[in-house]
Amino acid sequence: MGSPRRILIVGNWKMNGSRQSRQELDAMAAGLDPAFSEKADMLVCPPAVLLAGFTENATGPIRFGGQDCHFNESGAHTGDISPEMLREAGAVAVILGHSERRADHGEGDAVVKAKVKSAWRAGLLPIVCVGETLAERDANEASAVVARQVRQSIPRGAEGGNLVVAYEPIWAIGTGRIPTPEDVAQVHNTIRNVLNERFGEEGEKIRILYGGSVKPDNAKTLLAIPNVDGALVGGASLKANDFLGIAHAVL
Ligand code: 13P
Repeated sequence: MGSPRRILIVGNWKMNGSRQSRQELDAMAAGLDPAFSEKADMLVCPPAVLLAGFTENATGPIRFGGQDCHFNESGAHTGDISPEMLREAGAVAVILGHSERRADHGEGDAVVKAKVKSAWRAGLLPIVCVGETLAERDANEASAVVARQVRQSIPRGAEGGNLVVAYEPIWAIGTGRIPTPEDVAQVHNTIRNVLNERFGEEGEKIRILYGGSVKPDNAKTLLAIPNVDGALVGGASLKANDFLGIAHAVL
């Protein structure tokens, strides 16, 4: 049984890629089965400096997003990029609160919440990441941790069309380890309940992606789990063949 929501497959390139990666993108666009676009969307989130080059003259099914943004529109914030700047560079979405941002840059739920509002201000679709550590999973706290992150990182006003949540267990990122389908189902169900509780009917429309070691050989299984409405893919989004293998699992 597939998701009743429109599937979203997102590639998070992290700090990888170069201008030459355009070739990989072209191969992804050319290789994507036309039937994919009937039920799903594809987003690629490259490093911000590559965005404008990739979006210029971009045709075809792939759209683009940023990997983070500041919550202000402009100002004295050395090294930061505003959501308006991402938008001007051609982005339609932005990943926020990724565990690598939370760990490397000390971002907490309050900052992520401010960033979500700023993404809305700029007309970007925020993809808010949540997920537990291995210690929290072992202590049976995964659902409670994730529920708290969803409550505290997402502001009022979320709707099906303006928010995506991504569940990424931190211990599954880049490790090749993934939770069992039952564990994924349990956390996604928890997230759905929190969204419904807070946003009523709109909560039911918000897409919840799974991320963490998604590969062509496990994508079909993951996408068949209730309340899994797509995937947030790191390593396997860098190569056209792998990313297409994941995208074609929706067919
Ligand atoms: P991997 O797919 O490389 O495990 O990364 C997942 C991730 O962090 C995507 O945001």
